[in-house]
Amino acid sequence: MSEHGRINMCEINCDKERPVAANPLKIEDLSLRDGHQSLFATRGRTEDMIPIAERMDQVGFWAVEMWGGATFDTMHRYLNEDPWERIRTLKRYFKKTPFSMLLRGQNLVGYRNYADDVAKLFVKKAAENGMDIFRTFDALNDYRNFECVVPVIKECGKHFQGSICYSLTEPRMGGTVYTLEYYIKKAKELEAMGADSICIKDMAGLMAPYDAYDLVKALKESVKPPIHLHSHFTSGMAPMTHLKAVEAGVDILDTCLTPYAYRTSHPALEPLVMTLLGTDRDTGFDIELLASINETLEQDILPKYRHLLDDTKVSVIDINVLLHQTPGGMLSNLVNQLREMDALDRLGDVYKELPRVRKELGQVPLVTPTSQIVGTQTVNNVLFDTENERYKMVTAQVKDLCYGLYGKTAIPIDSEVQKKALKGYERGSEPITCRPAEVLKPELEVAREKIGDLAVDEEDLVLYALFPVTGKKFLRIKYGKEPVPDSMKPITLEDVAKEAEMLKKARAGELVERASSGTDMPEKSDALRTFNVFVDDEYFEVGVDEVGGAPVIVYAQPFQAGDTQQNQPSHAMHPHAPTGGSLPYPVPAASGSYAPGGMMPPPVSSQSQAPPPPQPAARKPPPKAANAPKPESVETSASGTPLKAPMPGMIIKYQKSVGDGVKKGETIVILEAMKMENALPSPVDGVIKSIGFGSGDSVPKDAVLAVID
Ligand code: CO
Repeated sequence: MSEHGRINMCEINCDKERPVAANPLKIEDLSLRDGHQSLFATRGRTEDMIPIAERMDQVGFWAVEMWGGATFDTMHRYLNEDPWERIRTLKRYFKKTPFSMLLRGQNLVGYRNYADDVAKLFVKKAAENGMDIFRTFDALNDYRNFECVVPVIKECGKHFQGSICYSLTEPRMGGTVYTLEYYIKKAKELEAMGADSICIKDMAGLMAPYDAYDLVKALKESVKPPIHLHSHFTSGMAPMTHLKAVEAGVDILDTCLTPYAYRTSHPALEPLVMTLLGTDRDTGFDIELLASINETLEQDILPKYRHLLDDTKVSVIDINVLLHQTPGGMLSNLVNQLREMDALDRLGDVYKELPRVRKELGQVPLVTPTSQIVGTQTVNNVLFDTENERYKMVTAQVKDLCYGLYGKTAIPIDSEVQKKALKGYERGSEPITCRPAEVLKPELEVAREKIGDLAVDEEDLVLYALFPVTGKKFLRIKYGKEPVPDSMKPITLEDVAKEAEMLKKARAGELVERASSGTDMPEKSDALRTFNVFVDDEYFEVGVDEVGGAPVIVYAQPFQAGDTQQNQPSHAMHPHAPTGGSLPYPVPAASGSYAPGGMMPPPVSSQSQAPPPPQPAARKPPPKAANAPKPESVETSASGTPLKAPMPGMIIKYQKSVGDGVKKGETIVILEAMKMENALPSPVDGVIKSIGFGSGDSVPKDAVLAVID
C-alpha cells in the first residue's frame, strides 16, 4: 500500500507487466456533457472543467464529449456563459483528445426542426470553433433529418457519427417495432449515408446485457463502421450491458469519471479499466492519473454542485425504468410538472396514460424532444381530459408531430388523434410525407434583421436564431446592456463553506432555539433567503434575513424525514430539474423542466395588471409563514373575464394586443411549459382589456395573462 492508502499501481502501469492489448477498447468520456446533464441539470461551468482538462487530455480517451444536447441552452439561459466560448476555451487545454458533441439532427441543440440555413450555419460554426465528432441523432430515427447536416459535417472534414435511438415496447428487444432487424436496417441506412462510426444510443438505460450482446454482434457482422455504445446507468443494467457488449466486440464505450457516474448518468470508467486490465481489450489507461482527477473533482468541484444532486434517495437505481420504461429525465419532468399543478397524486394515472399516448403518437422512441412531447401531452390528458373528450388540450408540438414536422413515426399516428390535432392547425390539416425541413422557410435572414447589431458575429446570430427569447436576453447581458442577474452567477467554495457553517450551528442547536423563542418574530422581508441544513438524518429549513447587514434567523423548521412528497425540498426530488428556492443561492430551473416562479426572476410587467407574486410552488410554506399572502388573482380588482395560466411557464408571445377583438377559442397567448408550447384560447368573445405580462416572463399557475371584456 502507498502512503495514501491506495494500492501501488506501479506494477500494473509498468509496460512489462501490462502489455498493450491487441484490440484495446476505446472510451469516450462524457463527464463534461452527459455526466453533469444527467446528474446536475447541465449546470457544470467551464471554470470547473479547466482544473481537470489537461489531465483528462493525458488519459487517452478516444474522444471527450463536452458540448451539445442541453449545454447550449443551459449555458446561455442560466449560467451567463457563451456556449461557443466553451469549445474555444477547453480546446486550449485538450491538445490531442478530439471533442465530441451531441447533435439532435435537424433539431440541432434545440427542441424543433430548424430551417436548413440555420442548420448548415450551426454545424459550420461548431466545426470552426473546434468540434471534431458530431454524434448525430434523430428522435424518430428518421434519417431524412440528417440529410442537411451530414454533408456540412463532411465538408468541414469532421467525423460523422450516426446514432440509432434504442427503444423498446416491451421489457426486452423484440416485439413488432424495435426488433433486431429494425436496428440492422437503421445501421445500414447510416452506413449508406457515410457514417464514420455508428452509435447505439440507449438514453434510458433499457438495454439488457444479453440484448446488447446480440445487437452488437449482429451490427458488427452487418456493417463496417466501428460500433459505439451509449447506455445510461438509470436501470442499473449498464455495467453488465457494457461487459456483454465488450464480449460481442463493441469498439467504443461511453463512461463517466466516478463522481459524474451512476444514477441517471453512465457507468464509471475506473471499474471498467480494472475489469479489462491485462485482457486483449485493456484500455491501457493509468489508474493513478484517473484517481488524481477524481480527487480534484471530489474536493474542489463537486461541493459547488452538491445542492443539485438528488441526496434524498439512497438507491442509485431508478426502479421505474424497469417497471414503466420511463426514462429518468422524463420521469423527473413529469413529477415536477404534476407537483407544480398540485396534482402529484395523479402520477399513477400518468403511468397508465403514457404508453397509450405514446402508441397513439406513433410508438416514438422517448428521447429529447419526443420524451417531452409525449410526457407533456400525457400530463395534459390526465389533467384536462373529460370522460367524453380526450386530447382536450393538445400542445403545439403534438400538432407538429401529427403534421409530420418531426419526421416519420415508427408506426402510423392514430388517425383520430391526428385529425383532432390538425383541426385548424396553421400549416394545414393534411399531414406531409416529405423531409420535414423542406416545408420550413429560411430563418436566418429574418433572425439577422430582428436581432440587428446586438449580434456581433455569426455565433451570436445562430444563438439568437435557435433561442430567440433567452438568446436575446443573453446577448443583452453579454454586451453590457443588462446587468448579470444574481441567479446566473456561479456558486463559490465560500458559499459552500457558509452552508457548512449553518450546518454546524444547527448541530449545536442554535438555530432551533432562536426559532422556538420567536414570539416577537420580525416580519420577513423580500430579501429573505432560505437554507437547507442537513444534520445526519434530520433536515432543517432555515430562513435567513439580512437586516442592516446582519443575518437574522427568521425561522428554522425541523423536517420530518418520512414526509417526503409534500415538504421535500424540490431540488431533491429530481436530479434533472432542481427548482431551488430553498438554497442560499438561487438555482434556476433545469432545461426540459418547468420554470416555477420561485427561482426565476419575478415576472416584470410594464402593463396594467399587477401579476401575482411568484410562489415557490414546489414547497409548502413553513408553518410560521403560513399566513403569508397567497398569490391573489386579480379578477376581483378588474371587471371582465380573466385568462389564467393553467400551469406555470414562460410567456412566448401574445398573439393579441390590448383593444383587439377576440372570439371564444381564439388563441391569445402562447405559454411555454416544459419546453412545449401551449396556445391558450380566449374563454369568451370580447375585447382584450389588459395584458398582464410580456414575452419572456415567467408566470406562476393561475397568473392572469389577459382580461377580456
Ligand atoms: Co445520454
